[in-house]
Amino acid sequence: MRVPLAVVGLEQADIQKVVEILESGNLTMGEQVRTFESLMANYLGAEHFVMVNSGSSANLLIFEYLMRPSNGRPHLVPGDGVIVPAIAWPTTIWPIIQLGLVPIFVDVNRETFDINLDSARDAIALSRSPVRAIFPIHPLGYAIQPGILKSFADEFSLVLVNDVCESLGSWSEGIHAGMGGLASSFSFYFSHHITTMEGGGIATNSLEVADDLRSMRSHGWSRDRSDSGNLTQGLSLADSKFRFLTTGYNVRPTEIQAGIGINQIRKIDTFVDRRRSLAKRVVEATTNTPLRVMGGVDFSNSSSNRTHSWMMIALCVEAGSQVKLRVQEFLEQNGVETRPVLTGNFLHQPAMINLKGYISDTSLKNTDWVAEHCFLIGAHHDFTEEQIMHLIETIRKTEQLS
Ligand SMILES: Cc1ncc(COP(=O)(O)O)c(C=O)c1O
Repeated sequence: MRVPLAVVGLEQADIQKVVEILESGNLTMGEQVRTFESLMANYLGAEHFVMVNSGSSANLLIFEYLMRPSNGRPHLVPGDGVIVPAIAWPTTIWPIIQLGLVPIFVDVNRETFDINLDSARDAIALSRSPVRAIFPIHPLGYAIQPGILKSFADEFSLVLVNDVCESLGSWSEGIHAGMGGLASSFSFYFSHHITTMEGGGIATNSLEVADDLRSMRSHGWSRDRSDSGNLTQGLSLADSKFRFLTTGYNVRPTEIQAGIGINQIRKIDTFVDRRRSLAKRVVEATTNTPLRVMGGVDFSNSSSNRTHSWMMIALCVEAGSQVKLRVQEFLEQNGVETRPVLTGNFLHQPAMINLKGYISDTSLKNTDWVAEHCFLIGAHHDFTEEQIMHLIETIRKTEQLS
């Protein structure tokens, strides 16, 4: 029996939808994308949602917008510092570096793996670059409290943008993860809470931001903007179709991705419920074992409190890395796939070492503790009962490894 980190997550209705879209002949961005965007905005409680082809592209567009908005008043200029957690995904960091900004790596909280704001405070005091933005990751289904992030950003006059690629379906203080800032990125890669195979998007409450993101995802074009009529007034039909307002990329989604997304987002509550009941069973199974579920364990049901959406399940071994390795090996030998917590300490990745010069001015002791003591297993909503039983039994058997 195998319990992978994730399974495909598509249902028969999704496959049927793909066939219908292929048969319709409308394949490139259009009606399905618009419908998916409005469902997503509605679910998140955001004014606008702009779908793109991945969560990585969503992050790239957020920073492109911050540096090159169409109004000519950038939020950030090359050399500005952006606070990021040291446990990060590569494409949380790459757009910052690629666009000439400076990632300022700070520690995470040991229990919840999210950005540690005391460490961020220290980093701002020590930074050689002017620190102008903060880009927290809401990790693995954990929603950072929006009030705390907002007051920190306000205190230091930082632009707050959020990477929510791992935390669709997680809420705090009645607000969806990441909705407290200027813009937030989401991913619908196949292992995530909903899938569009590959896919992602950006939520924002600002029409100005949404319009620029719509241009930037599609060559800089004026076509999908709310103000495209004004911008092309007086031009011939042919010319009006070829006005470019911003810098841009081609990171458009297809109708097929959006069509699947429409089906999937309607089932998000069921998916999250299934993930949470699996996580509950795993928490119970770890009693008397060397393992402890971490990363923000919370099973409260009220949307005014925090709701954890369990992207994956983080298991930590207090006894240290030797026992952790033994446990991980035992799980793998018994068909339970494991992986590091995101990328571990991102500064230790070869790409970062090769780039040279990226160091943290503050202690990353929690980051290193998490990298050394913790690993992830899957929490996918489509695991079968047999897979779940096997997972639970295998975890119980780790008791003998303490
Ligand atoms: C925190 C974070 N940001 C960004 C991404 C990138 O998303 P995608 O795989 O859709 O490009 C991921 C991927 O899982 C992620 O975990």
